[in-house]
Amino acid sequence: MRVLMKKGLVLVVISGVLLLALIHLWSPEMKPNVDISRKQRSHIESLLKKRNKDAVSSYQDVPYTIKLSVARQLAYNACECHAEKHTLPLALPHLLFPQVWAHNLNHAYLESDSDPEGVKGRRDKEYSSFQRRSYSAADLLIVAEANSPLQFPTQGVEVRPMKTILIPGLGLKQDPRPTHMVSLTATMGTLDVAATVDGVSITGEGQKTMRLSSSLLSTLNRQLQFVSYTNTLFHPKTADTVQYGSEGHQAAFTIKVGHNASPKLYNSGSNEEYNISALVTIATKTFLRYDKLEALIASVRRYYPTVLIVIADDNQRPQPVTGPYVDQYIMPYGKGWFAGRNLAVSQVTTKYVLWVDDDFIFTESTKLEKMVDILEKTTLDMVGGAVTEVTGYSATYRHTFSVDQGDSEGDCLHVRQGYYHTIEGFPDCVVADAVINFFMARTDKMLRIGFDPRLARRGHLEFFVDALGSLHVGSCSDVKIGHASKIHLPWTKSEAEKGYDAFRYSSSAGEGRVHTELYYFKNRLKCMSSN
Ligand SMILES: *[C@@H]1O[C@H](CO)[C@@H](O)[C@H](O)[C@H]1NC(C)=O
Repeated sequence: MRVLMKKGLVLVVISGVLLLALIHLWSPEMKPNVDISRKQRSHIESLLKKRNKDAVSSYQDVPYTIKLSVARQLAYNACECHAEKHTLPLALPHLLFPQVWAHNLNHAYLESDSDPEGVKGRRDKEYSSFQRRSYSAADLLIVAEANSPLQFPTQGVEVRPMKTILIPGLGLKQDPRPTHMVSLTATMGTLDVAATVDGVSITGEGQKTMRLSSSLLSTLNRQLQFVSYTNTLFHPKTADTVQYGSEGHQAAFTIKVGHNASPKLYNSGSNEEYNISALVTIATKTFLRYDKLEALIASVRRYYPTVLIVIADDNQRPQPVTGPYVDQYIMPYGKGWFAGRNLAVSQVTTKYVLWVDDDFIFTESTKLEKMVDILEKTTLDMVGGAVTEVTGYSATYRHTFSVDQGDSEGDCLHVRQGYYHTIEGFPDCVVADAVINFFMARTDKMLRIGFDPRLARRGHLEFFVDALGSLHVGSCSDVKIGHASKIHLPWTKSEAEKGYDAFRYSSSAGEGRVHTELYYFKNRLKCMSSN
């Protein structure tokens, strides 16, 4: 009887355990709730900021003399855009002596707005949220203080999200004393040791703060080689600031946390020579100029019979453009210039995309191999060529940009004709920030920046302003394309040309306002100057 009862009890207990195990398996895993709003900066960051302030504000009583030639070049958060005074006789051609003009975007945009304060407030709000989103703890200024006995990695430590690494390079150098002690504190992960060393006492293993101490410096240093960091707060790309200290000394270093960016590779076949059809797609946008487009296609075929041509077409009554290796994409009527560029480039599957206007003509100087060559052999993402007018004059339209930091009104954009430097091994090529609208680019890079579809009728520099800081741009004057002349007398124009001009060059007030808005609001500029 008692034996039976015992057996029953064991059964009940076993089935209970099994049930619990099943419930545990079935119930969805409880995941922690994580605040990713980035409202507050961590305690460590404010501590570091205070320490930086102390470091730069010491020795106040030692006098100094300002060296103006250098001090003037320092950014001081109060940029301005100035037009050049007319120093040359006005009759001289602008092309030979380009003068700097300045444009105040604040006035231009806000004055015609019914609610200027509201617009300013919205821009401020968007800007501070942009800053919060793009901020990383790896941008934080960290000063290594003098005579610190602490040895630690200053940069180059990286961990994948939720993974564990050994922190390389930790150490302590100090004179013998009864106990040697260090502490480590992380904010987005935990600290532990991957091995233990006899004679070292450790507290806080597996927690955000860990302390290690030993009477022997050598055993402590051996133990420090096994310190591990585990990221516990998921973010695809961020950084953790780790505090590292000993008695009377504090240091900090960052551990980058993030997924590796996925590479985007193109399989373009195996060839000794560049196979342009496999590497390049030609993209263009057409509007009311089918005669020009047909001439462009015919000229491409003379030199590149099998390269794919992608056409974005937003005509009111689209005409089919057919033929081998031609893809025509019909868009809603009048969607516009940048929307068309976006659509055309989005359909490209080759490594490179060549942008041409629909009134360009390929000639024997249109050597796409040269463009591919420089993109393959350098770090450039884009290379522009030269556009030759019927008159024989070739333009490369090279510009450099600089954005000076401004105040709460916005920053200042300075656009200047010119380039930074020539490219070794490519004597006809230079590096700049903006080039002409005949260019070849890495397709994936181009897609990441995109063409703002609000620019309907004209727009060019706007793309390069958006690309600033992420696109490495070159320009080669020896790759040329022809341009069906723009300088037509009005009475020699066809009906289609007149319609095109009426649409493209009707600079309606609304269109002008879009340009000002993009610079003022999207790019947060207060003024621009150019020559
Ligand atoms: C070049 O690439 C195209 C398209 O991928 C392919 O059809 C052609 O066979 C290639 N030409 C050579 C010579 O490999």
